[in-house]
Amino acid sequence: ITRLAVFASGQGSNFVALAQAIQAQQLPATIVRLIVDKKNAGAIEKAKQLGIPYTLVDYRHFADRQAAELAILDQLNQDQVDGILLAGYMRLLTETLLTPYAGRIINIHPALLPSFPGTHGIQDAFDYGVRVTGVTVHYVDAGMDTGKIIAQQPVVIAVDDQLIDVEARIHAVEHQLYTATLAMLLERGEFIK
Ligand code: GAR
Repeated sequence: ITRLAVFASGQGSNFVALAQAIQAQQLPATIVRLIVDKKNAGAIEKAKQLGIPYTLVDYRHFADRQAAELAILDQLNQDQVDGILLAGYMRLLTETLLTPYAGRIINIHPALLPSFPGTHGIQDAFDYGVRVTGVTVHYVDAGMDTGKIIAQQPVVIAVDDQLIDVEARIHAVEHQLYTATLAMLLERGEFIK
């Protein structure tokens, strides 16, 4: 059974969707820890409800990103984590985590990469006026949303859509695409060293 850690900075809706899908579809995986970098992240409450242990890593308490990631790596080693799923983790990773987990860190992004990378993918696509945006699941490298693409799904923006309509549609597609992609990666044995 594959041991996963989820990293989140926000509400944690993707974290919940992944945890629920693992249970409902009896996927051969278990989320053994949530890593959060903000003490007010909604994901913490979700972890408590799900009974999943969490660790708050406040980067301000460390000398630099590498030092914060060493603390995370230490926790992941203790938990014997095989793979990492970023779910709204609003930070770039360094080689401290990328090297030991090469090919075993996945991210979800709320736009069709390489368009609209960064922290406001839904809004940026909406403001640009594209009529098709979507969701991307990709491997993580040191860049901002630049790793090799694994899966994408389009979402149409209607002329009379408001931003919140698009946000709702994107999030629904995210929850479905992330869980389906996780199932596929587990099937392929991707997280096994
Ligand atoms: C999601 O829409 C995710 O794709 C996005 O943050 C949101 C987190 O929501 N991530 C990025 O923009 C990464 N560049 P959640 O906390 O409810 O899962």
